[in-house]
Amino acid sequence: MRGLSSGGFSEVYLALDSHDRKYAIKEYLPRDMVGRSDLGDVTVLNELDREVFKLGLKCFFEEARILAGIHHPNVVRVSNFFRANQTVYMVMEYADGRSLARELELGGGRMPEARLRKLFAEVIAGLDEVHKQHLLHLDIKPGNIYLRRNGSPMLLDFGTARQVAREVQFATAMITPGFAAPEQYNNGEPLGVWTDIYGLGASMYLAMGGGRLPAATDRVRQDTLPPASQLFAGKYSPQLLQLVEQCLAPAASARPRSLGLIREQLMASYQEVSPQATAGRWPRWLAALCRKKSR
Ligand SMILES: Nc1ncnc2c1ncn2[C@@H]1O[C@H](COP(=O)(O)OP(=O)(O)OP(=O)(O)O)[C@@H](O)[C@H]1O
Ligand SMILES: [Mg+2]
Repeated sequence: MRGLSSGGFSEVYLALDSHDRKYAIKEYLPRDMVGRSDLGDVTVLNELDREVFKLGLKCFFEEARILAGIHHPNVVRVSNFFRANQTVYMVMEYADGRSLARELELGGGRMPEARLRKLFAEVIAGLDEVHKQHLLHLDIKPGNIYLRRNGSPMLLDFGTARQVAREVQFATAMITPGFAAPEQYNNGEPLGVWTDIYGLGASMYLAMGGGRLPAATDRVRQDTLPPASQLFAGKYSPQLLQLVEQCLAPAASARPRSLGLIREQLMASYQEVSPQATAGRWPRWLAALCRKKSR
């Protein structure tokens, strides 16, 4: 067994079963609250954190239980879950691949429109299935969209533990600025499908080459986020740009009403942005040569 990743709430290990099949095992480990005994048991460091730890543990377990019942190609497959070492473990199908965040880093940060549409339509299909089980994700971002070798995406890292932590006022420690919606900052507004829609919008914006997004709380005070339709004009179809802008609306009521609507728009036919529109980025002589050749 070896470590795959370690985050604020958990540790992920790569493990093999007796038939040498690979699994990713995720351990509930809220780093700020716990230590580990010599025997490997997870121990709460401060007695005052015990209740929160237990609540998170219960939710991690519940999340594993719900995910184990979801069989969808775009949601990580949970095959088992169990308690040990005073914590909880979730056994997942191991997928060979990398996160969308890594893919964007390697690919120069800008995804072509056709690929972006297809990928997010699949992510939404998975997310919809999860919402049907009354579970919100609450941390949709390129780091939690995992791409298998064949390019098909699956959602990782669901947020029930976060949801609970939010209720006990730990919110800001658990959210990812730039991707979290304003209502995730305890502003009194309810969370819902619309909250995950904001994360989708932010992820698509990033996949277009949008760089770092300001925190939603800053946007509410003074919005410095360049609208997608300005920043990426001529690089993506106006319909897609408008869709991303709507998903990223600070007011939940201004975002698209359902995942189905977004998916429909992503899968609709659209006018490819013509090479002339992007030709400005090429040296003039090269653009001229291409035009001559295509005559
Ligand atoms: N099923 C899996 N197959 C392959 N790799 C995985 C799998 N699950 C997780 N990983 C690896 O572990 C990384 C982190 O996983 P995940 O997003 O679930 O946890 P996390 O971000 O550490 O969680 P948290 O934010 O709750 O601490 C992924 O980016 C991926 O590299
Ligand atoms: Mg993650």
